[in-house]
Parts: sequence; C-alpha cells; structure tokens
Amino acid sequence: MSKKFYITTPIYYPSDKLHIGHTYCTVATDAMARYKRLTGCDVMFLTGTDEHGQKIEDKATAAGVTPQQFVDNIVEGEGGILDLWKLMNISNDRFIRTTDDYHVAAIQKIFRKMYDNGDIYKGSYKGKYCKPCESFWTESQLVDGKCPDCGRPVEDAEEEAYFFRLSKYADRVQHLLEDTDFLQPRSRVNEMVNNFIKPGLEDLCVSRTSFTWGVPVDFDPGHVVYVWVDALSNYITALGYLNDKYNDYDHYWPADYHFVGKEIVRFHSIIWPAMLMSMNEPLPKHVFGHGWLLLDGGKMSKSKGNVVDPYILAEKFGVDALRFFLMRTFPFGSDGNFSNELLIQTINTDLANDLGNLLSRTTAMVNKYFGGALPAGCKAPAAPQDCDSDLIAMASALRNTYEKDMEACAPHTALADVFKVIQRANKYIDETAPWALAKDMEANGARLAHVLYNLLETARICGILLIPFMPDSMTQLFAQIGADEAAQSWDSAAVWGSLSETAPITKGDNLFPRIDMDKALAELEAAAEAARKAALPPLEIEPFAAENVDFDTFCKSDFRAVKVKACTNVKKSDKLLKFTLDDGSGTDRQILSGIAKWYKPEDLVGKTLVAIINLPPRKMMGQESCGMLISAVHKEKGEEKLHLIMVDDAIPAGAKLC
Ligand code: MSP
Repeated sequence: MSKKFYITTPIYYPSDKLHIGHTYCTVATDAMARYKRLTGCDVMFLTGTDEHGQKIEDKATAAGVTPQQFVDNIVEGEGGILDLWKLMNISNDRFIRTTDDYHVAAIQKIFRKMYDNGDIYKGSYKGKYCKPCESFWTESQLVDGKCPDCGRPVEDAEEEAYFFRLSKYADRVQHLLEDTDFLQPRSRVNEMVNNFIKPGLEDLCVSRTSFTWGVPVDFDPGHVVYVWVDALSNYITALGYLNDKYNDYDHYWPADYHFVGKEIVRFHSIIWPAMLMSMNEPLPKHVFGHGWLLLDGGKMSKSKGNVVDPYILAEKFGVDALRFFLMRTFPFGSDGNFSNELLIQTINTDLANDLGNLLSRTTAMVNKYFGGALPAGCKAPAAPQDCDSDLIAMASALRNTYEKDMEACAPHTALADVFKVIQRANKYIDETAPWALAKDMEANGARLAHVLYNLLETARICGILLIPFMPDSMTQLFAQIGADEAAQSWDSAAVWGSLSETAPITKGDNLFPRIDMDKALAELEAAAEAARKAALPPLEIEPFAAENVDFDTFCKSDFRAVKVKACTNVKKSDKLLKFTLDDGSGTDRQILSGIAKWYKPEDLVGKTLVAIINLPPRKMMGQESCGMLISAVHKEKGEEKLHLIMVDDAIPAGAKLC
C-alpha cells in the first residue's frame, strides 16, 4: 500500500484579490504535493478560503453587497481565487470554503466538543483588538502600543465572550515545540516559546458578539465562533471530521505538513495543537513557517498598494517559468526580495540559457547528425572518458540528493542541485565538442552517438526531477527526447540508461525563449500602470482656479504634520469627527473635521495627517476647532468624496510643510 501524505496551504482570506506573495505559498505546497505523488505517495492536498470575520463583513458593507455575495465574487468570480489556482496549475485534491454548510455545522460541533470537555467557558473580554488582523493582544504583546503583526493601531475592546483554556496546554505545547521536530524551520521555535509561551500563555477569547458574519455558537446564538477556531479546523472538517461530506479523516489525519507563512505560525503551532489536544485528536506531524516575499523591503499588501499581480507575470513569462522562479530563488524558510529584474534574470540564466540550450542543442545535433534517432549500442562506449564518467556519476547521484532536499522542505536547494547537473552537461558539450566529432562520422560516429546519448539521458533525469515545479514544460521536454512513460518515472530517475537508445528525438521550439530585459520591464510597468488606472473609479475633478494667489499670502498659511492621538464621533452630528492631535507643541490641539462619512474614528488613530493651524478657532456643534485637516476632494458619480491627506509616519509631529 502506498504511503499517505496529507499537506495543506493556509486557507486564504477572500478580502482582496491575491498577489504573488499568496501564490508563493500555494505553489510551494503544490510542488511538494506533486513531488510526493511522483514518488508514489497517496497524496491529499488541501487548500481553500477563510471567509468569515469582521473584516469581510465590513468590506461587503462598503461594497454594498452581502458578505456571501462579496466572498462568492472573490472566490468564484472571474479572475478570482479559483481562477488563479487553475492558471497556476495547482493540483489540489480538495478545496474548502469555510462558508460551506458541512464545515459550518462541524465547527458548531467542534466548539461544543471543547465546551463539553471543560475547555471553553464564558467570561468577559477586555483587551486590545487589532481589527485588520482580527487578533486580540495583551498590553505586553503590543509593539510600541501597536499590533505586533501588522503595526497598526489597536483599540480597547470589552465584550462577553467564551474563552478557550489555552493556558492549560502551555506545558504540552512547549514540549511539542522544543522537544520534537513539529515546528520547522527550527529557528521559529525560539520565537514562539520566548514571545508567547514563556511570558505566560493566556486563555484565548474564542467568540464574538460585536458582529454576525461567522459561525453562530449553537447553544448561545448571540455569539459567533472566533474566526481562527473556525479557520484552523478546516484542516480536519475537509476530511469529514464531525460531518458526512467526506469520510477520509481516519485515512489522512494527522497531516504530514501544514505550510504557512511566518506571521501565522503562532496560530498553527500554539493554538491549533492545543485545540486538538482538547479534542483528544492526533496532532499534525509538522508545521513549516515559510518566509515572506518582500517588495522594496516590506511585505506586500493591498493596503500598502505594493502588490504584484500573478496574472500579469504568468501571462508575460509563462506559468512554469513563474512557478520555477518562486521556488528556485528564495530559500523556503527565509524572506526574499521580489523584483521583476530578478525574475527575468532567473528565467534567462537557468531556463533559457542552461536548460533550454542543453535541450535545443542536443536535440538539434541528434537530428542533424543522426536524422532524429541515435543508433543502437550508443549507451555503452568503446572507450569511456573521464568527462563521461564525471557527468554520469553526477546525474546518477542526483535523485538521492534531490530527495533529501525535498524531504527537508528545501525546494530551492533541490533545484540548485538539479541545475548544477544541467550546467555540468553544458560544460560536457564544450569538452566533447560534438561538432568537431561530426566532421569525421566514420571515425567518430560511435563516440558522437555516445556523447549525445549521455546528454539526452541527463536531460531526462533532470526533467523528471523538475516535474513538480514545471509540470507542463516537462511533458514537452519528454516529448522532444522521446522518453516513454517508464522513462519518466521516479524510479527511473535513479537508473542511468533508462532512455531507449533509439528513442525518436524531435527538435521542438526552445522551451524557454530568452527575454529582452529592458523591453519586458517597460511592458510590465505599462501593464501595472494600466491595471492601476483600471482600478480607479471615473473621476470628476474640480476646475482649476483661474486666479493666482501671491506668494507671500500663500506663505502665511502654516501647514504642519499632526499625529492623531484620539478620534471620536461628535454627538448628534453624522458629519463631524473630533480629533485630538499632537502638533509637536506639547499641548494637544483639537480639530473638528467633516469627514465622518468616509472614515471610522478608530481607523485614524495613530495616523500622521496634515493640518493648517493658523486659522482662527471656530465653534462647531458647541466644540472648538483650532485649524483644519487637509483632504483631497473629488466627485464620483456626482457625489463628493474626501480623502484625508496621510503622510509618512516617520515625519515627526509639528514638522512644517513648505
Ligand atoms: N486566512 C488566514 C489563514 C488561515 S489558515 C487556517 C490567512 N490568510 S491570508 O490570505 O492573509 O494569507 C494566506 C497565506 O499567504 C499566509 O500563509 C500568508 O503568510 C501568505 N502570504 C501573504 N502575503 C505573503 C507574502 N508577501 N509572502 C509570502 N507569503 C505571504 O492568513
């Protein structure tokens, strides 16, 4: 019976379209799943979407649709998550949505199970809440008073809530992290133990009453289940745990690997095992916390506006080249800087130059010198030379090193090893100079055939090991070198000489044409600009002022950077927000601004804004306003829209704008 292997990606928030950073994790999981299938494992590869929570509810409200309509569009709509995974050739066996009926019902049973086991109790929650991350934090966990994950301001929150006895499992979780290989890479263990367990693991708030878009607690329907309890459980509900939709929980659980990004390691390596301990279920074997793809040194995120669109890249360079780049370039456990230059450089060096050339030169020579098939007997040379045995030894040993790398979740090292052999093969072409041998076919024909056979055989072995990364391109490679099914198998990758000596060779197109760097960069910039423009609503701009203002008059206006210390709604006004501002003077400044329609007060705390401060104070709704906050204003479909001008948080309060 084949060995089972269960691997998962995180389930994605359908709050925005996905970017290349999200794609990275799914491609890595796909490569691992394909590798395991290649080796003969019975693989279950799960991915899906995490659709509940306040963030989604808020976005849906802003878009004027129901939360379900909102997530349906991002998951199933054109260019949505399902389309992206199809485009990227993701071979998941199952796809779970946390709004699926069977999952919702199972979550209610899971919650009740932990409650019945005495691990969930009712209390009242007071704490700091980060809305975008949907995470509660203790004072000591905040960094500079802000959310330790995303750096945004947190707000005070208090509500009646259910709690999970996370503290009860602290010792067992610490042992799991420190004394087993559960959490990988090892470097992540200290971070979890020192930052979260040693300071004292507190019980976790696992229900909310402040919004409704979630799984209701069936025995207390005013509460919805905390989105992370809902989300983490997907890994077992998708196998049929406490539901009838599927029934392979006993077969596949425990998972062999949860691949997750580093910022959600905490949930997977502390909360998730504790939940399973509470339910008396087996623990996953491993959680692997990979690094982030960075852009300009920071994490990609829609709110920062620095995302890279995988659709544009895949269309321009091909899906396989993009998949390959992601896995080849960035060590899986570390962060890596994404750039279009690096992408093009990798494609040109590894794929066009090294692999593409090896294949096109070799197949061209077999066609030119032997009419498309080598003669029988070419496998065994009359007089082997050092370079033959060197190449053969390297290629024959490759599968073993590759296997070790893949088993250690180091796809970048596995690929580096494959490309060392490809580079060796290209050097072998220079050493053996087939074109010189071809000048005297009578004397050198057998030697030439042997050289070309060695090259084809090297390409075949490397081709097999590249299947998990570039499945479609490798099908083309096998077609060009005439490798039959047996010669494409995992077993045959360890057996030198598996390619038939007389396999029919076809010279096809270069699998990876060279890319003109400057041209491609300019085209990418134009495509990104077009996408940015398309995403903007049609604007009606205010007419420009006809009259000039004289310079001295302008200079009298005192514009300053100000930091929002507090912001609240003004009673009985649906227009005004009241700001308490740090203007650098040491005394708080109060300004009222008519922007309540466009902003929630809590979202503005901590932001750096621009104010004109030397206007005469005036009273609005009985309150004094000392200055005015500067906004950009335009009209959208005839309706006025205001955007507060926000500047870099590095600018100190009180800095003068001139
Ligand atoms: N919904 C949660 C996961 C719940 S799992 C039970 C979530 N979703 S997410 O859509 O925000 O992120 C999904 C995955 O994408 C995470 O593993 C995250 O680390 C990863 N990435 C998002 N941006 C990334 C980069 N820039 N680079 C690499 N991975 C990144 O978290």
